[in-house]
Amino acid sequence: MSDIAVISGSSNAPLSYLLSRQLKVDLTPAEIRKFPDNEKYVRIDGDVSNKNVVILQSMAFRPDEYLIESLLLASAAKDAGAKSVTLAAAYFPYARQDERFKPGEPVSVSVVAQLLTAAGVDNLVTVDVHRHRVLDFASIFKGKWIDVSVMPYLVSYGKKSGLIDNDTFIVGPDSEAIQWAKIAAESAGLSNYGALRKKRFGDTEVTVSGELNLEGKKVFIVDDIISTGSTIIEASKAIKEMGGKLVGVACAHGLFVNEALYKLYREGISEVYSSDTVPNQTTRVSSAEALSKGVLEILK
Ligand code: R5P
Repeated sequence: MSDIAVISGSSNAPLSYLLSRQLKVDLTPAEIRKFPDNEKYVRIDGDVSNKNVVILQSMAFRPDEYLIESLLLASAAKDAGAKSVTLAAAYFPYARQDERFKPGEPVSVSVVAQLLTAAGVDNLVTVDVHRHRVLDFASIFKGKWIDVSVMPYLVSYGKKSGLIDNDTFIVGPDSEAIQWAKIAAESAGLSNYGALRKKRFGDTEVTVSGELNLEGKKVFIVDDIISTGSTIIEASKAIKEMGGKLVGVACAHGLFVNEALYKLYREGISEVYSSDTVPNQTTRVSSAEALSKGVLEILK
């Protein structure tokens, strides 16, 4: 009998189910609801004593709510005698506020990491977490942390669907995205990859430029997050200026806020897909296998 118990947060039940299948266990039921005043109530409805509890949560769109829920579930699991608590955070919130950009701001990602530890989270498994300035989560999270990538799955889907072939150039839209372009390209045995340069002026204002030799090449963009779509739209213009032909775009986390998908389509960027960390109409691949590998690795 497995000593793993998977509990689904309320954010992404389908992914929780797929993760439990990958880990070959049934989901441990949990009651999660709101009190009439909107506060959260959680109760683990199964025996988790001496188990390695895995809580799946995907904290997009309602990060505060899902965060509190995860803290309550982690604490309840520990109180119920769990051997360990692993938070499988398919989408990890507040990762983009990883620096005090202006005086008076908090380093939000560190605050979140401290809260998780305080509530009893021993281990953290994330998916392509936004790592721009905090390159190593171990520096801000006390427990064990593994970041898995869905880039190989995204590229494999791109190959199967004919968007990517052996000559395709994989591009990350900003210098930090070189890490995803590298994983994506190497997993598919492609040798051509690189990154552009982005300057951000506000939530939606960015400029993208670059000096890659893309003349006459098919180009495929990979990134961790598509939020407003501005990054991808500006990257597509830069690629065109460099003589490349954009054949598709894939991201781990498709947030697509403020009609981003419509804006991308309107720019002629129609081949866009993402993983199921944040389920949306472009979801084509699952992060369940990558997450399960991360969980098994961390529990070794
Ligand atoms: C940040 O730099 C990330 O890697 C993404 O490029 C960014 O979050 C995308 O945001 P948006 O779609 O709003 O440009």
